[in-house]
Amino acid sequence: NAIYGAGLAGVVPRVPVDFATLERRAAAALPASTLDYVQGGCGDERTQRVNADAFHHWGMTPRMMVDCTTRDLSVELFGTAFPSPVFMAPIGVTGICTQDGHGDLAAARAAAETGVPLMASTLSNDPLETVARQMDDTPGFFQLYTPKDPDLAASLVGRAEAAGYKAIVVTLDTWVTGWRPRDLNTGNFPQLRGHVLTNYFSDPVFRARLAVPPEQDPAAAVRHWMGVFGKVLTWADLPWLRSLTKLPLILKGICHPDDARRAIDGGADAIYCSNHGGRQANGGIAAIDLLPGVVAAAGDTPVLFDSGIRSGTDVVKAVALGARMVGVGRPYSYGLALDGTAGAAHVLRCILAEADLLMAVNGYPDLAAVRAAGAQRLP
Ligand code: FNR
Repeated sequence: NAIYGAGLAGVVPRVPVDFATLERRAAAALPASTLDYVQGGCGDERTQRVNADAFHHWGMTPRMMVDCTTRDLSVELFGTAFPSPVFMAPIGVTGICTQDGHGDLAAARAAAETGVPLMASTLSNDPLETVARQMDDTPGFFQLYTPKDPDLAASLVGRAEAAGYKAIVVTLDTWVTGWRPRDLNTGNFPQLRGHVLTNYFSDPVFRARLAVPPEQDPAAAVRHWMGVFGKVLTWADLPWLRSLTKLPLILKGICHPDDARRAIDGGADAIYCSNHGGRQANGGIAAIDLLPGVVAAAGDTPVLFDSGIRSGTDVVKAVALGARMVGVGRPYSYGLALDGTAGAAHVLRCILAEADLLMAVNGYPDLAAVRAAGAQRLP
């Protein structure tokens, strides 16, 4: 209401309300190398493009004469109630998006302001405890890039548990970084700049492995990080991953129904269907087209989704296709770039407002109705 009311009153928002304008504005505002890192993807970025484009071949049918005066977008996951199905997907080195270098804190404050949970990345520019403190009462999730050093993995997870994160999200698709021409052509990999790895650098196990503290020799700490980043995970590691935490375990990057079944058999509490926004593998299928198969295989196990969400309409479609919760990636980074916490919060609120309004006009009073209505694949 506030966003629409402002528009009706002729107020021009500091951050645009739609993705195309938002991306254009962020592109103009960000340094070229930062834009390349955030906006870029794998290979010729075809998977990234089809992720977003594929939403156009799913459609929803409106229902009339349904009382939708109020809409209920709330959702439950692992016994926690969330005001909406939307969450912020983990974005590493987010500090490059904000001028003060503390993008993770800004995103966490946007979570506090909006109630939209943040999945905090292992690759954060601030210690995961500091990030958690900025979230206030909004529950957070911690995303783990599993290091080769099992003690470091246990330390990161233990810290996340102690800091109050509600679930551990293990990203499966990034034991090695994908072929990213934009970064390769410019020699720009922000994670190799020491100051953006503060979460690792603050870890006691990580520090214990170094001859001198990272503050004294950041380059050596980055070299050590490069050596430990990215354990090759196989199904044989699932019992170990499971044993790392008593918190709910979410496996991110699952796109195949058989993998979903195997993950659930191995003790995963939720499946996270995602192709990393087309940043890891090119030549893939749009993630939204893979979601229905994963949902069918997962049965009663919740399925989270991201990759290609650009609007509230996309969120509603993903819920219609079976996602319990839906992750926003690049859009909130652009919001951070344009106006820090307020910018990210505005982007999230616009996505929620559009989803809410779509449910109103389509005759879907709540997410159960969205799910029941489904989405139809267009010819
Ligand atoms: C990511 N993503 C990601 N995923 C993850 O598990 N850990 C991470 O640290 C990161 N880092 C990261 C950085 C940047 C700049 C981007 C754009 C993405 C992937 C992210 O969680 C999500 O899967 C995608 O962003 C979804 O695709 P869209 O919506 O951004 O296209």
